[in-house]
Amino acid sequence: MTKDKTVATPEFIKEHNAKHLIHPMMHQAPLQDAMRPKIMSQGEGVYITDVDGNRMVDGVGGLWNVNVGYGRPEIKQAIMEQLDQLHYSTIFANMSNEPAIELSHKLTQMLAPENMTRAFFSSGGSDAIESALRLARVYWKAVGQRDRTKFISLLGGYHGTHFGGASVNGNTAFRRNFEPLLPGCYHVQNPYLYRNPFGITDHAELGEVCARQLEQQILFQGPDTVAAFIAEPVQGAGGLIVPPPNFWPRIREVCDKYDVLLISDEVVTGFGRTGTMFGARTWGVKPDMMCFAKGINSGYVPLGATMINEKVEAGLLNNEDSFGMVMHGYTYSGHPVACAAALANLDIVETENLPEKSGLRGDYFLSRIAPFVDRFASVGDVRGKGLMLGIELVADKATKAPHSPAFARQISDIAQKEGAMVRATANKLILSPPLIITEEEIDIIVDALDVAFSEIDQPA
Ligand SMILES: Cc1ncc(COP(=O)(O)O)c(C=O)c1O
Repeated sequence: MTKDKTVATPEFIKEHNAKHLIHPMMHQAPLQDAMRPKIMSQGEGVYITDVDGNRMVDGVGGLWNVNVGYGRPEIKQAIMEQLDQLHYSTIFANMSNEPAIELSHKLTQMLAPENMTRAFFSSGGSDAIESALRLARVYWKAVGQRDRTKFISLLGGYHGTHFGGASVNGNTAFRRNFEPLLPGCYHVQNPYLYRNPFGITDHAELGEVCARQLEQQILFQGPDTVAAFIAEPVQGAGGLIVPPPNFWPRIREVCDKYDVLLISDEVVTGFGRTGTMFGARTWGVKPDMMCFAKGINSGYVPLGATMINEKVEAGLLNNEDSFGMVMHGYTYSGHPVACAAALANLDIVETENLPEKSGLRGDYFLSRIAPFVDRFASVGDVRGKGLMLGIELVADKATKAPHSPAFARQISDIAQKEGAMVRATANKLILSPPLIITEEEIDIIVDALDVAFSEIDQPA
């Protein structure tokens, strides 16, 4: 395909997209027809523009990652300077580079309240999860508890697409194509208030029951066989499941009781999205490991980070059995350009106080879309924490029968035409705009959704 913009017309670009690109989470067939995806060509602040010139507020924030917005000159400059100085250097063995060192120092400072002492860098969220699972196994071998190999996670959880992450994933859709998955991975109920098998309507009671399920599963497996429990502080891709405030403190208690490592998957929640700098901090909990990507550098250059606390570090440094060497890593671990972009990004997150803004704007956003439950027949539930929000669509409010994914896509298509990008996934609409969004820009998204529901839904 030519780079000549006069030849590369929007139609030409769409045709080549349909012919040559694999979209990971989209069937290839509809690419041939009118459902061809929107092809983006520009971004500025919270706005994105497609090749046809349509400008929209990005209510998805890239893919929950463009937290500081598009086109930030501070990050561009940091990237350019690093490219000029040293575009690549390995940290695989006995070499290192300054941005990676500086970023590990910065992260351990930011995560001092959680006692995180070391960073393991990779290229994205799935890498960060894979690395956490591996580090957990290495840790238990290093401290002499070789039977502790199993992982427990939540139904509905999303932990990326590597085999380890897919194995602890709690959504069938991300598992089936790749089975058989890693043995020794088990799932327990998530605290999903709108739908749970216990018929519980009290959030705190549900949190307690789900925490007890974790305890029962650990006991059933045998505590001395369980390496770690992994969960997202707020489940994202699984449908925006906000746990009750007692849930995380209770799972920390359960993990402590049986000496099971607690891994917080902060790939989405890290760096302000839930209204606090870190998701686990939102719930007042200190995990043993924390996984980051996305908001760590707002998607300017791919980067993942797995942080370990003092306890895990001490175990890994116990080198008696030669397991102190992790023997897992990536060519792009500690990529200097990605780390330089992260340092500039984190500077913005802190100086612009984005976690607090995310909390305030999230409350405003939720207050604007909450009335949809009473206005529209298909809106079964609206929920959120900070700038992570979800709308659950039902075909029947009484039975809570899920609405079709096609209906969710229709709503999102109309919203796009009205100037707002929202994400349709199964029977849910997910909203995760950049953390710099203003109330006026949130209004644009809400108004676009209002038009969409008014056009194709019935009054409640
Ligand atoms: C909670 C969570 N963990 C892990 C991942 C995987 O991240 P990546 O897509 O960067 O591999 C995602 C991606 O959305 C995620 O939401």
